[in-house]
Amino acid sequence: MAERIQSIRGMHDILPAQTPVWQRLEAVIRDVMGAYGYQEIRLPIVELTELFARSIGEVTDIVEKEMYTFEDRNGDRLTLRPEGTAGCVRAGIEHGLFHNQQQRLWYLGPMFRHERPQKGRYRQFHQVGVETFGFEGPDIDAELILMTARLWRALGLSDLRLEISSLGGSETRAAYRERLIYYLLTHEDRLDEDSKRRLHTNPMRVLDSKNPDMKSIVEQAPSMLEALDAASAAHFDGLRALLDDADIEYKVNPRLVRGLDYYTRTVFEWISDDLGSQGAVCAGGRYDGLVEQLGGRATPAAGFAAGLERIVSLTDRQNKPAFDSWPDVYVVAVGDASARSAQRLTERLRDQLPGSEVVLGCGGGSLKAQLKRADRSGARLALIIGEDELAAEVVAVKYLREDREQQRVPETQLIALIKAARQRSN
Ligand code: HAM
Repeated sequence: MAERIQSIRGMHDILPAQTPVWQRLEAVIRDVMGAYGYQEIRLPIVELTELFARSIGEVTDIVEKEMYTFEDRNGDRLTLRPEGTAGCVRAGIEHGLFHNQQQRLWYLGPMFRHERPQKGRYRQFHQVGVETFGFEGPDIDAELILMTARLWRALGLSDLRLEISSLGGSETRAAYRERLIYYLLTHEDRLDEDSKRRLHTNPMRVLDSKNPDMKSIVEQAPSMLEALDAASAAHFDGLRALLDDADIEYKVNPRLVRGLDYYTRTVFEWISDDLGSQGAVCAGGRYDGLVEQLGGRATPAAGFAAGLERIVSLTDRQNKPAFDSWPDVYVVAVGDASARSAQRLTERLRDQLPGSEVVLGCGGGSLKAQLKRADRSGARLALIIGEDELAAEVVAVKYLREDREQQRVPETQLIALIKAARQRSN
């Protein structure tokens, strides 16, 4: 036998048993986005490497060590997108979506990061992302958070906690950065190697250290929130008031640091304790400087992205039955003439029962073998057409999930019967 080719580490197939869960998730996402008047934008998976370096930041983990970067045949340096914000801003500037306009956009698709794979962390993963442009006030920040809360409710997810913070404007950040570097330098002997390296390049990331030995240094570090400029503090108070009005629970976490450099003012994260070390399900915030930084006119902006694998893993755990999708009907035909009749019947059923799932047992076989396949498909009903039924112009109905007598009915009664079975199971 020839040697098998395996998938790439950290990149997973989504098999047919799982796709109903993904489809349902995508449908719920679409509904929630629609309910808030957001429009879908579809963006390329590959962009110029420079786009990510300039937006996410040269000294972030993503840009320094996680990007899938390669040279195109014509010598351009390209990167598989590690996230969607940069591409969305690039597209908006390129197509004039921002100037004197407001935009509420969303996208969904694969992202790529060369991280060390583990449960909940993959090299190809999927995000739903939302980006808004042209809104300065905290009302849109609150809307983004309410929208995510609605998404969790629609998916039946509980136990997600919200943490929020503010990073202030670029001046606050610059001043805070100096204070933080000073503080960290005074404790340099207690810093680990990673933190020493980040001290001057990206000191905020030191606060994100997972090393337990760094805990007390991080806890005693000066707080960004205390250093906020007046306008950013008012913006943050505004957001908190709106969340309070909406009865959204949150924790203010002054140490909330994000792995991407473009954030200003609001940052937030939804975290689950059910996912082990990769608990961040959704994260985002404001990035008022990014459009200008990428060559557009200054445009306030805010957004978030949620990892779909992590949501799927939570829905698997927290509310499995809601996601199951079974056929309503599995049609079994015994004999050639019956098979032709069965094919016509299934088409008519699909016409008359929109939204139902009708499976034809293609491939034939004995009645017993076909009923076994019908059972395995999860269908509620098996409709059987054998020679006798064909001659009598009836269909035999076998209840696969209910304790009911098999019966034979003319086709005209089938629809009502299938609908009734469906209602009983809901
Ligand atoms: P991020 O925090 O890098 O933000 O990613 C957002 C979410 O994507 C994470 O909370 C997590 O659920 C998921 N995620 C990230 N990396 C992986 C991975 N390797 N495997 C599985 N899931 C992962 C962003 O990407 C920003 N673009 C969010 C944003 C949009 N901010 C403003 N607008």
